[in-house]
Amino acid sequence: MASNLLDPQWIGKTFDDFLFRPQKGITSTRAGIPLRSRLTQHIALDLPIVSSNMDSVTGGDMAETMALEGGLGVIHRGQSIERQCETLSRVKRSHSAVIEQPRTLPVGSTIEEARLFARRHKINGILIETKAGSGILAGVLTRRDIPWDRSRDKESVETFMTPTSRLKTAPPDVATEEAAKIMFEGRIERLPLIDQEHRICGLITRKDVRFLRERPFASKDEKGRLLTGAAVGCAGDFMERATALLSAGADSLFVDIAHGHSQIMQTGIEKLRAEFPTTPLVCGNIATAAGARFMADIGADAVKVGVGPGRGCRTRLETAAGVPQLQAIREAWCEVGGEISIMADGGVRYDKDIFLALACGADTVMLGSALSGTDEAPGRVIEDPASHTKKKIYRGMTSPEAVMESLYDSEDSDAIDEALATPPEGQEIQVPYRGSVVDILHRIRGHLRSAVSYAGCTSLEDARNAILDNPLEFLVPLSESARRESYER
Ligand code: XMP
Repeated sequence: MASNLLDPQWIGKTFDDFLFRPQKGITSTRAGIPLRSRLTQHIALDLPIVSSNMDSVTGGDMAETMALEGGLGVIHRGQSIERQCETLSRVKRSHSAVIEQPRTLPVGSTIEEARLFARRHKINGILIETKAGSGILAGVLTRRDIPWDRSRDKESVETFMTPTSRLKTAPPDVATEEAAKIMFEGRIERLPLIDQEHRICGLITRKDVRFLRERPFASKDEKGRLLTGAAVGCAGDFMERATALLSAGADSLFVDIAHGHSQIMQTGIEKLRAEFPTTPLVCGNIATAAGARFMADIGADAVKVGVGPGRGCRTRLETAAGVPQLQAIREAWCEVGGEISIMADGGVRYDKDIFLALACGADTVMLGSALSGTDEAPGRVIEDPASHTKKKIYRGMTSPEAVMESLYDSEDSDAIDEALATPPEGQEIQVPYRGSVVDILHRIRGHLRSAVSYAGCTSLEDARNAILDNPLEFLVPLSESARRESYER
C-alpha cells in the first residue's frame, strides 16, 4: 500500500545514488523467473518494458518486436493520423489467431495487380471474392500461383487461383486446434473461414498458429493479435486521431504531452473519457506526487513519470523544470501506488536502473535511447567517416529536427502554430548501431531476473511486494568513492 509521506532520504536521488543490498537467494535457477507486471489494471506484460513513442524509436517494426518479446511499443504521433493508423494496423495484422478481415481482390483483377497487392501488404495468399465488395469467396491466389512470365501479367487472377470448390475451408467458429489439424492434414498454409453462403468470415494461417504455440509470452489481445499502444496529444486534432487509432485497433492510448500536470491535460482526458469510457489511457508526463494524484483523479489508468531525465531531453537545461527520476517515481508510488499503474519514463542508462525503477514504485519502464540504434528503430544506419563506426540517429520529440519532420506531415494548424511558437526542449544525437532489439531485450530480461534473484525472491511481483513498502531498507546510499568503485570501469 502506498503511504503519502516521502522520506527525506529520497530527495534529490536518482538511479546512480543507490545499490541494492543483496538478500539471501532462494531460486535454484534464474532462467524462468517471471517478470509479469501491469501496464494498466486490465493489461499485463510478461516483460515490463515499453518502447518510447518517439520517431527515432517506435515505428511498426519496433512495435511488432516489442510485443512479440512480451513488452509493448507505442507508435509515435509525430506523423499524420493516416500514417500512424497505417503503421498500427500493420502491427495488429502481423500476427493473429484469426485474421478477421482478410485482404481481398475481386475476380477480374489482373496478375499484375495481384503481384503489387501482395508486395504492398506483405502477404503470400490473397482471397479472391466473386466481385468487388461481395465478400463471397471465389478462390485463393498464392504467390506460388502467380506466373513469373510477365507476358501473362494482364491475365485474370481467376485463371490461376484455386477455386473455392477445390479449397479446404472451415466454418467461422472453428477451434484453433481443429484448424491446425486441417492445415496439417491438407499440407496447406492458410484456411479461409466461410459461412454456408461462402461469405468470407476470416482467415487462419499456419504461421499464426505456430506463433501462438511458440510464443506464449508475447503480448496479445483477446483475439490473439499483438498488443500495440499509440500516442495522442491533448489539443488540435487529438480526438480525431484517437478515434482513428482505436478503430485501427489500438489497445491503449498514450496521452503524452511534455507537461502533463496541466489544465490542457485535464480538458483532454475529460473529452477522451466522455467518448471512450473504457479505453486504457496512459497519461503523462508528470514528476511529482501532486501530478500523480491529479492524473488518478481525472481518470488516467496509468501515469507516466519523468520530466527531463531522458537522453534526448533539454527541458531541465532550458527551463530548470524536473525532479530527479528515482525521487519522482517514489513520489508517484507514495501517492497513487496500487491505485493506478506507474510507468517510469526516461533516464535509464544501465539495466540496473530498470530494476531500481521497478523496486521503488514503477510497474513498467519506458525506454527511448536504450532501444535506439537498433535495426527495429526507424531511420537508417549511417557510417561515421572519421571512426568508421556505424551509428543511428536518436532525437527528442521536441528537437528542431523531429519538430520539422512532424510539421511536414501535419494538417493540424493548431499543432503547427504551437510548435513554431515553442523553442526546442530536445536534441538530436548519434548513437552506436546495435543490431537487433531482440538481443537487447534478451539481455534486459536476463539482468532483471538476476536482480530478482539477488533480491531473494522468485518473481518480480514477489520482489516488488517485499520491497515497495520501504525500499530504503534495501537500498545502500552511495558515497562518491562508492559510486566510483561501482560504476567506473
Ligand atoms: P531515454 O532516457 O530513455 O528517455 O532516452 C526517453 C524519454 O524522453 C522523453 N522525451 C523528451 N523529453 N524533450 C524532453 O524533455 C524531448 O524532446 C523529448 N523527447 C522524448 C520521452 O518521455 C521519452 O520516452
